[in-house]
Amino acid sequence: MLIKRPADIVPSDITPRALFDTRRDFIRAAGLGAGAALLGGLPGVADAQGKRGDKLGPLVKSPFSTDEKLNDYEDITSYCNFYEFGTDKSDPSKNAHRMSTRPWTVSIEGLVQKPRTLGIEEVLKLAPLEERIYRLRCVEAWSMVVPWVGLPLSVLLRQVEPLGSAKYVEFTTLADPKTMPGVRSAVLEWPYVEGLRLDEAMHPLTLMAVGLYGEVLPNQNGAPMRLVVPWKYGFKSAKSIVKIRFTDKEPLSAWSRAAGREYGFYSNVNPDVDHPRWSQGRERRIGEFSKRKTLMFNGYGDQVASLYTGMDLRKYY
Ligand code: MTE
Repeated sequence: MLIKRPADIVPSDITPRALFDTRRDFIRAAGLGAGAALLGGLPGVADAQGKRGDKLGPLVKSPFSTDEKLNDYEDITSYCNFYEFGTDKSDPSKNAHRMSTRPWTVSIEGLVQKPRTLGIEEVLKLAPLEERIYRLRCVEAWSMVVPWVGLPLSVLLRQVEPLGSAKYVEFTTLADPKTMPGVRSAVLEWPYVEGLRLDEAMHPLTLMAVGLYGEVLPNQNGAPMRLVVPWKYGFKSAKSIVKIRFTDKEPLSAWSRAAGREYGFYSNVNPDVDHPRWSQGRERRIGEFSKRKTLMFNGYGDQVASLYTGMDLRKYY
């Protein structure tokens, strides 16, 4: 993004492997253990403010998951980008508790047959919740492996019966100056807006995440629902979504509006197209010292490359 670079990552950000494995095993056992209160499965429980320890489930394992080592819960929830809560990586985990995620609704509108406003409880019941372990590659050249919980975005979008004229989907996220200190600063124009082409939005890999590590999504990671589009740079994964609009025009995202030459509409992970100020050829997995090569489409090319057949990906970055 405009601000932090991988070089800013200090050694204390890096979790020792032994600690990482112990914590991971503990959280997984806790998250998936029998007898836990399950959100989504039990009526009423989901009405509460989502908080650490609230289990989601039962969860279906996804065939789309990578078997790479997971980043630990601490990394995922304390090294965040959520500029509404501040531009420092640690700001969202310090400030996001101020946001209230219940009640929460998302309105789905625009070029559709049946516009609807759904409560988060209704969203949680639309489909069996899946655990999907995805790589997330940030434009700042770091990456993580995250065990998301969510449902295919297509399931949510089909609720409103999109019209044939709809070509794109625009996502608008919460901008509440009372609870989000960053919204009072001019770092971006608020609210945060992102967009996808309709076929990208309907693609089976595109997830509406409602949790991670088997638990309800922490506020700093975009509670109560955020996009995860694993073959695109992380900023496409809009957090805390309140509106979804079908349109026939390419949406103007908050980052393209701020710096269009640096952040294009497509923003597919592409090691051959450098950011104007740094290379995208390599990335640092949070928790590791040495860098690894960045993969085209973040390694999801088999599933998504055909969406871009015939397109010059240097032009449509
Ligand atoms: N969504 C909103 N509303 N505001 C933001 O600042 N940051 C984006 C994206 N979604 C952002 C957002 C960026 S730059 C990244 S890399 C991912 O969220 C980070 O997600 P994570 O903090 O859960 O890893």
